[in-house]
Amino acid sequence: PRYWLIVPAAGSGQRMQADCPKQYLRLGQRFIVDITLSRLLDNAAFSGCVVATGANDRWWPETDASKDPRISACIGGSERAASVLAALDALSERADDDDWVLVHDAARPCLHPDDLRRLLSELGDHPVGGLLATPVADTLKRTGPGSREVETTVDRRDLWRALTPQMFRFLALKRALESAIDAGYPVTDEASAIEYAGQNPCIVEGRPDNIKVTVPADLALAGFILKRK
Ligand code: C5P
Repeated sequence: PRYWLIVPAAGSGQRMQADCPKQYLRLGQRFIVDITLSRLLDNAAFSGCVVATGANDRWWPETDASKDPRISACIGGSERAASVLAALDALSERADDDDWVLVHDAARPCLHPDDLRRLLSELGDHPVGGLLATPVADTLKRTGPGSREVETTVDRRDLWRALTPQMFRFLALKRALESAIDAGYPVTDEASAIEYAGQNPCIVEGRPDNIKVTVPADLALAGFILKRK
């Protein structure tokens, strides 16, 4: 099977309180999405890449990635899952049912090349696929819905923080996303749709510094992580 890359970049980034979506903030001279894509495509595994952008995205044409012949763009949706589905549709002429699709957030520029390599090598023969994740470091509390009263402390020994890339078979991922969205299931990552379809994604432990730039402080942190490597 071949490997395809999907990068959802159609978010509005409201939590960043910037005047552009977070994937178009700059680190040094470069857009975050350009850093993310060049680090992914440094790995020669991919046969092609689709980026899902916003419908009235005036920043994408400014990127280096938009001029890269290995990358094509499609219009994303109002939810991340809809953006990924749009990108899968854009690949449907080229990808075979059993090909691997890796989905990686545009706003995660700090993915370490070793983690990407390990994900590919550890899951290459896996029937379902899986994701990078890192053990939960904080103590987690559960309240009732809408309440501030703690009911229990969740045992964190079996808990993982989901990262990207997440890697699944083309047709399985497309069907899982379609049915989870149809059912109104909260699809916050690809793995959750696969789980909804009754399959068990496999975790490959990744570095915790593969952060998603979400709030303003993350930008400085990402700059620090990238400099250190
Ligand atoms: O909003 P969140 O932090 O979950 O976004 C994760 C990634 O999904 C970002 O790269 C964002 O641009 C993308 N996204 C998308 N379409 C949406 C919402 C988010 O492609 N409707």
